[in-house]
Amino acid sequence: MSLKSIQKKLEYTKYVVGEQLCYYEPSRNKSQNTLVQELSSSLNKKQKSINPKFFYDKKGSQLFEQICKLPEYYLTRTEISILTQLYEKLPPHLNGDFRLVELGSGSSKKTRTLISILERLQKHVEYFPIDISKILRDSSKKLRDDYENLHITGIIDSYESGLEFIKNYDNKKNLIVFLGSSFGNFDYENGLEFLQKINSSMKKDDLFLIGLDLVKDKRVLERAYNDSQGVTAKFNLNVLSRINSELGSNFNINKFVHHAIYNESQNRVEIYLRSLENQIVNIPKARMILQIKQDELIHTENSYKYTIPEINKMLSMTGFRIKDIWYDEKQYFCLVLLSKND
Ligand code: AVI
Repeated sequence: MSLKSIQKKLEYTKYVVGEQLCYYEPSRNKSQNTLVQELSSSLNKKQKSINPKFFYDKKGSQLFEQICKLPEYYLTRTEISILTQLYEKLPPHLNGDFRLVELGSGSSKKTRTLISILERLQKHVEYFPIDISKILRDSSKKLRDDYENLHITGIIDSYESGLEFIKNYDNKKNLIVFLGSSFGNFDYENGLEFLQKINSSMKKDDLFLIGLDLVKDKRVLERAYNDSQGVTAKFNLNVLSRINSELGSNFNINKFVHHAIYNESQNRVEIYLRSLENQIVNIPKARMILQIKQDELIHTENSYKYTIPEINKMLSMTGFRIKDIWYDEKQYFCLVLLSKND
């Protein structure tokens, strides 16, 4: 093991939950510092914003699970329909044993298809879920109970730190997966940087599978982010409750409403919190007093949708070669299998 990877491990505390399951958590409380630092800057700008990664505290992760089951939110069930095609279509691309590494594993429900594919092909399956949310602990336990031959090593940290963790971990081949069009929550530049980061953490024979949402009818898109049961609104507003409980602020969630629109020129759904009145919010731990005007929008998320030429361009610019691309019947969504180009 290299000096770098030993140091990396020292920054984490390892929790062993039995023979089949362990997970790593950062030793220091990085998360509160990041929330304070990022909000001090993003809420001080002319266009106030909150990074979407802060949606995912325990409550936010549970609400996201509910979103995935909504009739209007076609993304999850469409991606699952493509994943089930992979029972036949993925094995020809897998030569030898692979470890499954998942970025943003969440509930790990969709991953079950991939684990089952690997279980058919290999005696032993290793799964490394990487997620910023502590939901990883519970979802890993459920998986362990359902799969006898599965060995799980969870990493509760950001995607970037998780990738650093697996880089040079050992010489086993990795199948890295990034599902659910979570990539669509990055802006263009950050997205390219992230793809480069994934590429540089891959070994020559590693594979990368990414799920991307495609450009489609504006009405379908706006319905998906403005569901009739108001779950997406709750998910969006929950970020304010999280800030209240972690930073002692006094956001009144009844004074904000969820607002989501599709921006056709940018191919993205934009999500905001709109203030219902002029208000002053105090965030003691970030030493901030915010003045928010009536109808002012706090930007909380972009969800990009892609065209195939855009996907080809982004992936070739960041050093990938497309090995295969799979769609659902309506061509709403796609899964792209990639290798390193060199
Ligand atoms: C996680 N991510 C891919 C979701 C999306 O569709 O952009 C987050 C989400 N926001 C509102 N609904 C779902």
